[in-house]
Amino acid sequence: MTARAAVILAAGQGTRMRSPRPKVLHAIGGRALIDHAIDAAQGLGCERIVVVTGAHAPEVKGHVVRRLGDGAIAVQDPPLGTGHAVLAAKAALAGFAGDVVVTFSDTPLLTAEAVAPLFALREAGADVAVLGFEPADPAAYGRLILAGERLERIVEARDASQAELAIRACNSGVLAAPAQVLFDLLAKVGNDNAKKEYYLTDVVGLANAEGLSVRVAFAPERAVQGVNSQAELASAEAVFQARRRAELMEAGVTMPAPHTVMLAWDTAVAAGSTVEPNVVFAPGVTVEAGAMIRAFSHLEGAVVRAGAIVGPYARLRPGADIGEDAHIGNFVEVKKVKVGKGAKANHLSYLGDGSVGAGANIGAGTIFCNYDGFDKYDTHVGEGAFIGSNSALVAPVTVGAGAYTGSGSVITKDVAMDALALGRGEQVEKPGWAAAFRARKQREKAGK
Ligand code: UD1
Ligand code: MG
Repeated sequence: MTARAAVILAAGQGTRMRSPRPKVLHAIGGRALIDHAIDAAQGLGCERIVVVTGAHAPEVKGHVVRRLGDGAIAVQDPPLGTGHAVLAAKAALAGFAGDVVVTFSDTPLLTAEAVAPLFALREAGADVAVLGFEPADPAAYGRLILAGERLERIVEARDASQAELAIRACNSGVLAAPAQVLFDLLAKVGNDNAKKEYYLTDVVGLANAEGLSVRVAFAPERAVQGVNSQAELASAEAVFQARRRAELMEAGVTMPAPHTVMLAWDTAVAAGSTVEPNVVFAPGVTVEAGAMIRAFSHLEGAVVRAGAIVGPYARLRPGADIGEDAHIGNFVEVKKVKVGKGAKANHLSYLGDGSVGAGANIGAGTIFCNYDGFDKYDTHVGEGAFIGSNSALVAPVTVGAGAYTGSGSVITKDVAMDALALGRGEQVEKPGWAAAFRARKQREKAGK
């Protein structure tokens, strides 16, 4: 296979997002748009990936460098068009002699499968391969001027005649060509057009003028739709969610109301699990076989092991590890706690930092008091322990295996195995006090 490299364009301003955050750092499926673009490039087996960023968005540069290193960045300053942007990546690809595929950072639904036909065209002898599509509304997309199999040129909507605007075949922006061919053609691109920009699309006409062959492969609109506004971001999210839900159901997950479940790019749910309506998965969640995620739960960075039940209305935060057959019930929040096999915390609790042993029972209203305003401390509840309702366990603290804490206790010291700890005021009882009180009050009122 010819070596492959990707140039991902991300230097545009993204002004239509009307957001202080750079466009490509907005997310779908909990993953930044730029990362989806990088995923697609990696899925194509690109051995080098260069992201072209603008000087106006240093956060984008930082984000890419953290994932791919310094060599993966080219800065285009100022941005003078898509052709100019690809040229900005030339130095970063010095010495690379294979095929270059150009993609846009704001088409997060692009998959390696959708781009693969371009490389098939290259292998079949095309010098330049362009990914086209037929949008429902061609609007402002560049139009493909085809002569049979041959792509003669691409005309931008702003520069197109009425007849050209009637063409349905449009440019997705993705193209592939050998590095040498691409950069030689780009060197000849001018900016004599409506936007006074250096258009990448002009390489097509120039290639034809040099007798090179340019071919088109078509992708479904869903794979190449772009994100330019918040509404388009939401629309891409919807497509992404539909795709991921279908994948999970196909893999054997039961979802009675899939359209109400929000998944992240990396949500892993094993066959035989159930996800009830209105569950939200932020990134980093693994659900093992036979687990049940009940309605209205929110999960992030958590593991739910086989046979466990979470929710309804549960919140699992990063580091929650819910053991086999354990139950985490309504209004229970778990953060950075390993919950042992068969343990239960069924109602209204906060379990943050520490562990709950197998078979332990955490009563309603239990709080792990883990934070003093400066530092966090751990709470450990031993196997088979029983934490009475409304206990406050003030960390750092350990409740031994099999121990009990009395309801309403504030536990500030470690509790020995199999002991009962009580940390509450003793009940005092004054016989007849209430009746006497009422009688006195009634006399006072009558005397007024
Ligand atoms: C481009 C194509 C058009 C195609 C459409 C598909 C050109 C000239 N036109 O138009 O044929 O139908 O995409 O969506 O290529 N960018 C830079 N530097 C720049 C300008 C843009 O990096 O100087 C980046 C943007 O961040 C974006 C991509 O290139 O990721 C496309 O730019 P955009 O301005 O959206 O191009 P369109 O006008 O949509
Ligand atoms: Mg665009």
